[in-house]
Amino acid sequence: MSNPKQFDCGIASIGLKFPSLGLSVDELARVRGIDPDKFTIGLGCETIALCARGETVVDLGVDAARRALERWDGDLSDIGMIAVGTETAQDMSRPLSAFIAEQLGLDGAVRSYEVKHACYGGTLALRQGLEWKQSGAAGDKAALVIAADVALYGEQDGGEPTQGAGAVAFIIDKPLLASVDVRSFAWSKPAFDFWRPVGESYPRVEGKFSLDCYNDATQFCFEQLAETRGGIDAVIAEYEAFCFHVPFPKMVRKGVNRLGEAYAWSKEESSDFFDTYVDPTMDWNRMVGNCYTASLWIAVTNQLAAHKEGSRIAAFSYGSGYGAELLSLTVEAGAKHPAWLADVESDFAARKMISGEDYLELRSEGKPKLVTAPEPAVANL
Ligand code: CAA
Repeated sequence: MSNPKQFDCGIASIGLKFPSLGLSVDELARVRGIDPDKFTIGLGCETIALCARGETVVDLGVDAARRALERWDGDLSDIGMIAVGTETAQDMSRPLSAFIAEQLGLDGAVRSYEVKHACYGGTLALRQGLEWKQSGAAGDKAALVIAADVALYGEQDGGEPTQGAGAVAFIIDKPLLASVDVRSFAWSKPAFDFWRPVGESYPRVEGKFSLDCYNDATQFCFEQLAETRGGIDAVIAEYEAFCFHVPFPKMVRKGVNRLGEAYAWSKEESSDFFDTYVDPTMDWNRMVGNCYTASLWIAVTNQLAAHKEGSRIAAFSYGSGYGAELLSLTVEAGAKHPAWLADVESDFAARKMISGEDYLELRSEGKPKLVTAPEPAVANL
């Protein structure tokens, strides 16, 4: 097929941030009295990223944004939009973008908002940044897009070994690091697979059903892409890497298995596809666990640093509820010097690996505290 149309704008800068604590799932299994193979082999998990006391989703988002801003040739006065995808909302009204913009000192002629659609929210924020810039509404301003989450489940919940935390920030301006295709392939179906009622601290999950929803969305998004390319073989030939939302690595393997069933791949073909194009994308995800909105973009930023200019990367986003979208990116020349690798290296080097007992103590303090308004809130008026 002829080259797909791309946005004139794209990803100009990237920053990542991971929190200061880590816990191996072996340690979690030990203190929970569960066979560690269930977490490592059964779910494919390795390490959970955790916030220390007082460390919040706002801190993660601010640090990722600062890193993206530092390595960009514009400054805060060039930002005309801040959109934050998250499912770690701190308030029912005040968007997470306001908490982050306040710390950054970003105000004035700026569109500022939070995007919610479970783990899909970061992707929607990114698409909106691109579409806003492309539409001309942005003028000469750039968008700051952040995907940030602290993913915690209730203690001893089946999701506990899949927890994680992290943030990815993008500046949407010139396509220095990556271009994005205008055409993407969305699929949604209202479902209660994973949700968090207002006022509850932890999600409710219909575990097995959530796997089915994810697998269905994978198949239906890939089928749309394949139709435009004349078949799945042409899709595989076009892309160097296929990144997925990573609730836990084995979920991604199941998604690939579903594609294998849909396209009648042999077991070996399915494994080859996974090992070659998918497994390497999850190197950082395995170190941090599920970071909800940031999860897919952690895999994508890993791959932007791993492939040469012109390489094509597919990005499958999934958010419970459910909504999904399959995007295509092209690696641009600036990614030859992937400055954001330093974020990952420094955060992983600096983080403290805690024992299972330390984790239990951390959890014993109760639900994560919300970032609240200063008292009295009217003092700001
Ligand atoms: N050695 C090796 N493997 C073992 C084992 C052992 N000792 N014990 C169990 N296993 C295997 C099981 O066979 C199973 O593998 P298969 O699925 O391939 O059969 C796997 O380990 C998990 O075991 P269970 O199914 O018994 O685990 P569980 O029911 O306790 O929890 C889960 C699994 C429901 C997925 C749970 O982790 C969960 O609720 N996670 C959160 C929901 C989630 O991530 N859903 C994914 C789609 S929704 C989404 O994508 C949004 C999002 O980010 C959350």
